[in-house]
Amino acid sequence: MSQVKTLSRRDCLLFGLGTVVGIGLHSAKEAMSQSLLVSELSRSRSITPEMAIALESETQSLKQRAAAKGLFFGAAARHRDLLSSQSLANSYIRECSVLVPEWELKWAAGDLPLRPNLDRFDFTRSDEMLRFARANGLSLRGHALVWHLSNPRWLRETLNPSNAEQLLTSHIRTVAAHFAGQIHSWDVVNEAIEVPDGRSDGLRNSLWLESLGEAYIDLAFRLTAQVDSRALRVYNDYGLQYATSSHESKRKAALKLMERLIVSGTPVQAFGIQSHLRAGETRFDAERLRRFLKDLADLGLKILITELDVSDQNVPANPSVRDRLVADAYREYLDVVLDEPAVIGVVTWGLSDRHTWLSGDKPREDGLPVRPLPLDENLERKPAWWAIAQAFDNAPLR
Ligand code: G3I
Repeated sequence: MSQVKTLSRRDCLLFGLGTVVGIGLHSAKEAMSQSLLVSELSRSRSITPEMAIALESETQSLKQRAAAKGLFFGAAARHRDLLSSQSLANSYIRECSVLVPEWELKWAAGDLPLRPNLDRFDFTRSDEMLRFARANGLSLRGHALVWHLSNPRWLRETLNPSNAEQLLTSHIRTVAAHFAGQIHSWDVVNEAIEVPDGRSDGLRNSLWLESLGEAYIDLAFRLTAQVDSRALRVYNDYGLQYATSSHESKRKAALKLMERLIVSGTPVQAFGIQSHLRAGETRFDAERLRRFLKDLADLGLKILITELDVSDQNVPANPSVRDRLVADAYREYLDVVLDEPAVIGVVTWGLSDRHTWLSGDKPREDGLPVRPLPLDENLERKPAWWAIAQAFDNAPLR
């Protein structure tokens, strides 16, 4: 099939203008239908038939295209961004069926941390995001009950082998109970694997491991299952998608951990592959990734793509070139992962370039704003959006 080219902003404007004109003429009943307009545009703008079809279904959002294949699409957001901009909120409502608080369900991130001290839980921010989600037909995905980062200073200073079980138990019992029945899925344990730490099991020497041993992982999943059996229980991690030695060793350690948990009867139900990609990355081996996905599926696990984005830190400055390379990375990756039936959905780590962790964590040397996400800073759909849309359209039906 001929490669669908990217609609230039000019083409989009023309198409938009033509639509307005069409609507404007509607009362005179002389309006060109949208499909006639598209064929006019196609002839005059020499766009491909595939693009014309894509234009036809331009109104199909990412969540609708995903749902048409039995998948979901969602995105992470920060309370301070989402609830302070109606236009941004409208983009999430249009494109997403799942919302992930980027900060608000961690122990301590953002201006009002969930755990201000040992004795308190502050659900102010997370409850506001839950209300937003429920009011707009989105499901809320919880991230994350146990992680080695974004922990409050009081926890880091207090936690020890004698109190760790009680601290972990009270946190999960309180937080999971607060949202019981209202959470799509929980990242129960996040990023427990760090092969370079040198342990034979590949686990990370975190504050939780040092206090409770590897059993902290089993405890977290068992507690979550006890408190909210309806939330899908996910183990979430990064650095698993490329044909590099570090990703290969992490894939092996991840499979080993999942096997141990399942053999122990620990109620892990799904694996979250964060999928923080790099534009221009050549060390991508589709067959090796397919094998990893199948190995996870063969363990009976569902798979979620949980934090998808594409860093453009190391590709040329030109925005059109960068957008094309970012879109190519989305397409190359999603074409493989969405082929695996165990994959049930995709979440991007942010929706608009306006708000991305990559601005601070992976900035460009030239200082240009990064462009890693489906929507640009003006909430316009980019080639990345079209690449994700096309990947859903091409995905096998679940
Ligand atoms: O909220 C404070 C603000 O009051 C203060 O002025 C500012 C000063 O730097 O810091 C703000 O805290 C920031 C925090 O996000 C929000 O609490 C931290 O600086 C910042 O480092 C922190 O980064 C987040 C990081 O997780 C740690 O929680 C990123 O935004 C977030 O995108 C990132 O997300 C992680 C996932 O949870 C797990 N997978 C990797 C992913 C990317 O690192």
